[in-house]
Order: sequence, then C-alpha cells, then structure tokens
Amino acid sequence: MGKDRIIIFDTTLRDGEQSPGCSMHLEEKLCMAEILDRMGVDVIEAGFPIASQGDFESVQEVAKRVKNAAVAGLCRAKTADIEASAEALKPAKRRRIHTFISTSPLHMQFKLQMSPEAVLEAIAESVATARKFTDDVEWSAEDATRTEDDFLCRCVETAIKAGATTINLPDTVGYSIPEEYAAMFTLVLNHVPNIDRAVLSVHCHNDLGLAAANSLAGITAGARQMECTVNGIGERAGNAAMEELVMAMRTRPDKLPFETGIDTAMITIASRTLSSITGFSVQPNKAIVGANAFAHESGIHQDGMLKNQKTYEIMTPESVGLHKSELVLGKHSGRHAFKKKIEDLGYQLGDNAFQEIFKRFKDLADRKKTVFDEDIIALLGDDGTLYERIKFDSLRVQAGSEGPQTATLFLLVDGKKVETEATGNGPIDAIFMAISNIFPHPDANLLLYQVHAVTGGTDAQASVTVKLEENGITVMGQSADVDTMVASARAYIYALNKLLKKREK
Ligand code: KIV
Ligand code: ZN
Repeated sequence: MGKDRIIIFDTTLRDGEQSPGCSMHLEEKLCMAEILDRMGVDVIEAGFPIASQGDFESVQEVAKRVKNAAVAGLCRAKTADIEASAEALKPAKRRRIHTFISTSPLHMQFKLQMSPEAVLEAIAESVATARKFTDDVEWSAEDATRTEDDFLCRCVETAIKAGATTINLPDTVGYSIPEEYAAMFTLVLNHVPNIDRAVLSVHCHNDLGLAAANSLAGITAGARQMECTVNGIGERAGNAAMEELVMAMRTRPDKLPFETGIDTAMITIASRTLSSITGFSVQPNKAIVGANAFAHESGIHQDGMLKNQKTYEIMTPESVGLHKSELVLGKHSGRHAFKKKIEDLGYQLGDNAFQEIFKRFKDLADRKKTVFDEDIIALLGDDGTLYERIKFDSLRVQAGSEGPQTATLFLLVDGKKVETEATGNGPIDAIFMAISNIFPHPDANLLLYQVHAVTGGTDAQASVTVKLEENGITVMGQSADVDTMVASARAYIYALNKLLKKREK
C-alpha cells in the first residue's frame, strides 16, 4: 500500500510569531521563509496582513521571494481582511487565503457576540469573497474542539459549499485528547455530505503537552494537512512542533504510513536559525532539536550504543541534519574550507555577509585553538551585519574586586568615531552606561540580558542575547565572542540599531 502524502502547513511566521517575545523583523521573516521553502514546506503562512503595515509588508515580501511553497495570509471573516490578504499575496506564485471564525458556543457568545445563524452567514460570505481572489481557500473553525457536533458539521458544509478547499479544525486552546480529536474528524468525514471536496487539516496547541499526539491522531482519522511551527513556538504553550510531527511519521511508518515533502536534514538549521532570531532557546531535553536529544551520558547507554547504535537511538542524528563534521577549522583554514563548512552546516550567505563572517572567523581562530561547528553557528547568529548605524569599534574594561568597574568604549556612529568612559555596578553595567552616554535612549528598557557558553573549555565563546523594549516595541540583539564583555557590548549595540530602525519606520 502506498503512503498517503501529508501537506505540511507551517505557521511559524504567523501563529508562532504572534506569541509573546517571538516577534520578527522583515529580514528575519524572509530568512526563515527561505529556509522553510528550501526544506520542502508545502504552505507557508506568512502573517496576518490586516494586523499592521509591517505584517502586510512581510507577507508581501515573503510572497515575492518564496519559490516553491504556496504562501498563505490569515484573515478574519471580514471583507477588509480578505482584501488585504489578497493584495499582500499578489506576488506569490501560489497563494492561499486563510479565513477563520469561532464556532464554539463560548466564543460565539462572548467573543463574537454573534448568533450561530449569523456565524453561518459570515462563513458563507467570507469564503465566497476569498474565492474571488484565489481557488485555494482555507477555512478554519476557531475553537473547533469545543464546538457542538451538529453545528460544526453545518459550518464545514457551508464553508465547502461556498468554495473552501481546505477545512482546518483547530484545537485552539489545547484542550483535546487524541481519541477525542480523532473522533471529531471521523464525525465530519461521516456526516458532512460534501466533505470529499476538501482536504481536512489539523492545528493543535500544546497547553496539555498533547499537540503532537493530537495532530497524529487527526491524520490517522483522515486529515491530510498538518499545521505546525518550528520548535513548536506559538500562542501560550505553543503549536505542534513540525520536527516532532515529521520525525514521528518518518520513524514509525509501520503505524503512521504517511509521507511529507520535508527534507528532514534541514530540521536542525531551521531550529537553530529560529532560536537565534527570536532569542528563544530550545530546552535541552526537547524532542528532536534539544541539545541532549541525541546525547548518551549514562555508562549503560554508552555501552549499548557502542555495540549497536539502535539499542538507544530510534533515529540517527544525521537524519535531522546533525553532523559531526570531519572538517575542523583553525587559524590556517582559508576561504574555501570556511565556505564548505558553512554549506555543510546548511547555511547560504550572500557575498557581503560571507566576507563579514569570514573576517570574524579569522579573528576568532587567532584567539581560539579549535573553532567548532557551534562557534561558527554562533557567529552566523550574530546579527551585526544587518543594521549598521552604530558600529562597535573597540572596548577596554577594568573589572575585578577593587572598583569602580570602568568601560572605555569606542563606537562609530554614522561613520564618526566617538569615545566615552563610564563606571557602573560591574563591568556589564559600565559598558551599557557607556553606550547610553554616546547614544542616549532614555525610553528603552533592558528586558533580557542572557549569556551562555557556546562550547566547553575556558576559551569558549560567550553567546550574549540582549532584549530592549521601547514604547511597546521589542528588539533583540545577539553576538558571540571569546570575550564576554565584547559580546555583551556588540549584542546591546545590535539591539539598539534595530530599535533605531524600528523608530524610523
Ligand atoms: O488556533 C487557532 O484556532 C488558530 C486559527 C486562527 C487557525 O490559530
Ligand atoms: Zn493557532
């Protein structure tokens, strides 16, 4: 029996991005969209175009750049929303309009303040409006899992009659359990007369930690599209994680006889890129993409692994793109070796970005005997090349138990070299004070300052993340260096540059 093909609908840039702390800038969204497209995602939900000018522009830019996937824009059941989506999606090779409305009694009464009949009318009207712009229309029943059976079937039938080609039944609040979620699809398949004209879709949230289990139960019951996000980011506890769904199907074809178009070897790069963009690190024991997902620490496990890898490994690290590369780089490595390493790690860089990263690599290799893959990934996550109004030049710090701790900082501001000295409660405070002296930004608050060692060893690079907030706008800067103070200064400056760019807009 041939395997059934599952459509992978990725909503990292919409449901993922709308969760607190995960907002992304245009360049970051484009970078993620390019990876999702390369890895074989079928539909990329790029945003909610009516939400803001920024959202509109990013959906439009993603639509221009994506080569293979269909691009989707979300809309409520409102003509203005649908028109905004249609306009933003115009440049896409394949466009999908995704419209939704709540169908549960709770949502209809308190959120929408609409009667069931009015909701049915809104479904028919919104789907028909969307169909004027594209043949590919998805309709979602928000809070489907808490919707009454009969009404859900009427809604689905109405949406299909109006022209919906995909019907998504989300577990919006992560309330369902697998058996129950599967039963909802069985119900719809058995009771909606025109159901053969649409593809059914799962969309699960992880409030009870069941998003992946529910999604898999849904496809076992007949759904053929899965909605998910990289690393499982999303509202509250997140959405179903793409890597978990895809690897479950790949690892257990005996029970899950489905296939996807995903190149699973790109899972690691997608996960790492997203973490470095959002500053949301993945918990070490996270399935598939956590740092410990393929680590074997206990003696018994290590012994078993040496005898036969299958004793404790149900999938190989290589299958998700984790390679222990033979090519170890050091200070004698040249451009070619570095380029090859970057490609092996799954990254693609333009000429300017390559030159900049190569310079940083050489500088690092002078100070660190062996440059590990993790070091290079940390350099690649360093976002200083994108925003350049304020540039780090050099830093001298006086630290230690006998204060005052002092930072002498040289920056290039709009091309002009500026110097200042500041003291603070510790060297980091002094550095951040120095940046504020040179470039005052009194309304910004430091939300997060985070440091972690990229590898083991006392010469390990420190990877620093800084999050700033100003008038509701949050930005993040990241940098890595063997000197924690330098990485901190750079990360702060990158965040500040992004803030300036946002202010300009
Ligand atoms: O969780 C949900 O119900 C959604 C819909 C808008 C599809 O994200
Ligand atoms: Zn959702």
